[in-house]
Amino acid sequence: MPRITSRIDPGSESFKVNRADMLARVSELRAIEAKVRNTENQAKEKFHKRGQLLPRERLMLLLDRGSPFLELSTLCGYGYHDDSDGSLAGGNSIIGIGYVSGVRCIVFVNNSAIKGGTASPWGVQKALRAQALALENKLPMVSLVESGGANLMYQQEIFIPGGETFYNQARLSAAGIPQVTVVHGSSTAGGAYLPGLSDYVVMVKKKAKVFLAGPPLLKAATGEVATDEELGGAQMHATVAGTADYLAEDDADAIRMAREIVAKLGWNAQLPPTERPAYAEPVYSPDELCGAVPVDYRKPYDCREVIARIVDGSEFTGFKDEYDAHTVCGWANLYGHPLGIIGNNGPISPQGATKAAQFIQLCCQKDTPILYLQNTTGYLVGTQPEQGGIVKHGAKMIQAVANATVPQLTVLIGGAFGAGNYGMCGRPFHPRFIFGWPNSRTAVMGGEQAAKVMSIVFGEKLARQGQVVDEEQLKAFCQPIIDQFDKESHPFNCSARMFDDGLIDPRDTRRVLGFALSVCREAKRRQVHPNTFGVARL
Ligand code: COA
Repeated sequence: MPRITSRIDPGSESFKVNRADMLARVSELRAIEAKVRNTENQAKEKFHKRGQLLPRERLMLLLDRGSPFLELSTLCGYGYHDDSDGSLAGGNSIIGIGYVSGVRCIVFVNNSAIKGGTASPWGVQKALRAQALALENKLPMVSLVESGGANLMYQQEIFIPGGETFYNQARLSAAGIPQVTVVHGSSTAGGAYLPGLSDYVVMVKKKAKVFLAGPPLLKAATGEVATDEELGGAQMHATVAGTADYLAEDDADAIRMAREIVAKLGWNAQLPPTERPAYAEPVYSPDELCGAVPVDYRKPYDCREVIARIVDGSEFTGFKDEYDAHTVCGWANLYGHPLGIIGNNGPISPQGATKAAQFIQLCCQKDTPILYLQNTTGYLVGTQPEQGGIVKHGAKMIQAVANATVPQLTVLIGGAFGAGNYGMCGRPFHPRFIFGWPNSRTAVMGGEQAAKVMSIVFGEKLARQGQVVDEEQLKAFCQPIIDQFDKESHPFNCSARMFDDGLIDPRDTRRVLGFALSVCREAKRRQVHPNTFGVARL
């Protein structure tokens, strides 16, 4: 394959400026994550005094030592609901893909060190996403549960969407995806159905509480007086109700049991032997990604500079390079996985849209996953593109993306605006995985453009009323719109709203994509054993 020749000089001033800017964004991201850890650690003494491990300590025991763990959506809910400064970000859960007894699993941990591990509105979306990932990628799901259930202060935003988590549990079980759940503490009211609907349930003695109504509610509702243990203790569930399949002495013992259950699934043995493809590292170091790309999406750059720093040997076979220069398509390998790549070098023109649509079909024909490197201000506007059929050609591209039969992965590396977001496989188009860089921007359009549009509408309205608008008035009208778009399109806000599966350090892009691609490949080769109604405790 032809090798990309980079035009970037890592010794240049612009490289240094870009790098400093991008690293500052990465530091901001890491600072929020550190704040959350700090909040968790404040609960350490309380947990340890109760003879419990912190949620993250449980997670560390669950995962194979030294194995990779791809934590997802760390900024979920950042700045929303209970979170005012990032210290409660994450949706009160820790979710990721990691290895348990050598088996790659989706791991879901209630972060009970934060707000009692309650489900926040965005936390519900994170849980739903974890289940979607489990189903689509055929990954067993291991849950470490301890939660106050729905955050009652926001019940309106939680009750109905949250119900879908139970629907999904039933569907996952029926689809042949095992769910292993450890109950470390409270799992009450609706939350009781989480273990109830799991295929394997471990409960920790004297800690697990699984009931529809706890003692106070029961007394209020029926007048009956009962203890936690009688109503929903681990011992009761293991010996009387039969909701628990395994009874553990403490958190660590329960996790040991969960690991044993996963080991006994025989999950890896059911997979045909995998050949590990040979690969070469990129000629241009992924470390240079921070300097290769300007943080400001308004400054154009060639997306081949990104491709050169993520694909094997920096080798890339372009497709229809002469037909349209702004939509870059071509083939490469990443850790030996063949890959079709679509990147933007500007707005998408009618030619670019048809080229991309054709390219997507070719990838589907030869069963090659597609990577979208999204950095677009949208589809081209103007008389010429309109007359050139931008609507119908853009529609073709959108149709191809929506109906593609191969895994599609997206990385937001700059602007993600307008319908370009859809055509480049943004969140609404169900990419298998979608990650963002901390410089990315997602919105229907840029703030300045939106302000201009609204000021024209505003000006025309005033003119109809016979009023004359002066410059100062227009400026005062525009600024709040620009500020609003700036805030809303910010990558931290977009990640908080689950527009991506998490923000990543650009330097990790190759490794993260390699991991995601191997998840997709394994899913394709795996045959699951669906059943009609899911596994029930009969
Ligand atoms: N909704 C909103 N906030 C809740 C909550 C809920 N369901 N459950 C707990 N919280 C909050 C608490 O107010 C507290 O907030 P703070 O950190 O600002 O002080 C935080 O979560 C931790 O709760 P706390 O009771 O101090 O922790 P704990 O570890 O001792 O106990 C629970 C955790 C979950 C056992 C306990 O809080 C509880 O029983 N909650 C109610 C459970 C329930 O009945 N849920 C039904 C919902 S459908």
